[in-house]
Amino acid sequence: MNEVTLADLPLRADLVGKSPYGAPQLDVPVRINTNENPHPPSAALVADLAASVAAAAVDLNRYPDRDAVALRESLADYLSRSTGVPLTGANVWAANGSNEILLQLLQAFAGPGRLAVGFEPSYSMHPIIASGTRTVWLSCPRRPDFSVDIDAAVELVADRRPDVLFITSPNNPTGGSLPSADVARLAEAAPGIVVVDEAYAEFSSRPSAIELIGTFPRKLVVVRTMSKAFAFAGGRLGYLAAAPAVIEALMLVRLPYHLSALTQAAALAALEHADDTLALVATLSRERDRIAAALTDLSARVVPSTANFLLYGGFPSRHGDAHAAWQAYLDAGVLVRDVGIPGMLRVTVGTPEENDRFLEVSADVLRG
Ligand SMILES: Cc1ncc(COP(=O)(O)O)c(C=O)c1O
Repeated sequence: MNEVTLADLPLRADLVGKSPYGAPQLDVPVRINTNENPHPPSAALVADLAASVAAAAVDLNRYPDRDAVALRESLADYLSRSTGVPLTGANVWAANGSNEILLQLLQAFAGPGRLAVGFEPSYSMHPIIASGTRTVWLSCPRRPDFSVDIDAAVELVADRRPDVLFITSPNNPTGGSLPSADVARLAEAAPGIVVVDEAYAEFSSRPSAIELIGTFPRKLVVVRTMSKAFAFAGGRLGYLAAAPAVIEALMLVRLPYHLSALTQAAALAALEHADDTLALVATLSRERDRIAAALTDLSARVVPSTANFLLYGGFPSRHGDAHAAWQAYLDAGVLVRDVGIPGMLRVTVGTPEENDRFLEVSADVLRG
């Protein structure tokens, strides 16, 4: 049985030769490579979450609420409070991480013969999920400073008429965000579904695209996650806000009982503590600005960021390329991310101590 290799299997031809997605998970002292919140949940949240999960455990012989009604109402309440847009549970859908939300969106609105467009470099799972659903992927390149050329983008969208348009704001891995007016221009031009991936919205002071759903109810979908600002990456909870009809469409493709009773209970407890958890966002943003200033002082090129990470470069030629610089960090016990952009690495904002260590190693790595 163990002698069978991947090459022996009747794999779909379009998957042959591909590598699985995944940032290295290495046990080193400073892990700042996956844009998590570096602060663990508070003791009060851990206690509430344990009680909430224990209460759910009593009914584990039964399937969970298939439609996660209580959780969706709590998420709608959080979004209404933070954006000022009145939403109910009917406007919200939840799944195991926003990756599953993105998958369900492409299953419902894209697929074989349909086209998805994104502005790259951006979140690499967008084209991977497109490929997994056999959606044709068209990359619209960003400018050299990683901003989106809106006039060119509107023209491309009007010309190519994608079934799904991805707008990532703030954008991972570059950190910039798109003004609402630009999102609106793209939404006006787009004939299909417009997915605004706002995984890092809490770190940005720009208004959320949720404000535009009322104007574009037939197309605008805003995807969020509890993996970043909410410090809940291990809990796996992503969600979206949209017109109720979009959620009806997703119910056609979701697996029954996709969101376990334990996940629903844990996420509900985490949402009860939203104010405390999100109070850390301001600290993380201040730390981001401190790191950006310190890297600039070290003569690095730092891309302005509205998220909890920074893309930076300017490594001296003795490193050859960004991957060699990445290895130099790793050798010093600091795990950052090589996102495949020539000459650039991405660092997630960590705790102040982790950031100090990162900057100490950066002084060495960036030294000419
Ligand atoms: C832009 C963006 N969208 C979505 C995700 C997926 O997050 P999750 O599946 O943990 O909700 C990430 C994670 O890094 C991301 O950067």
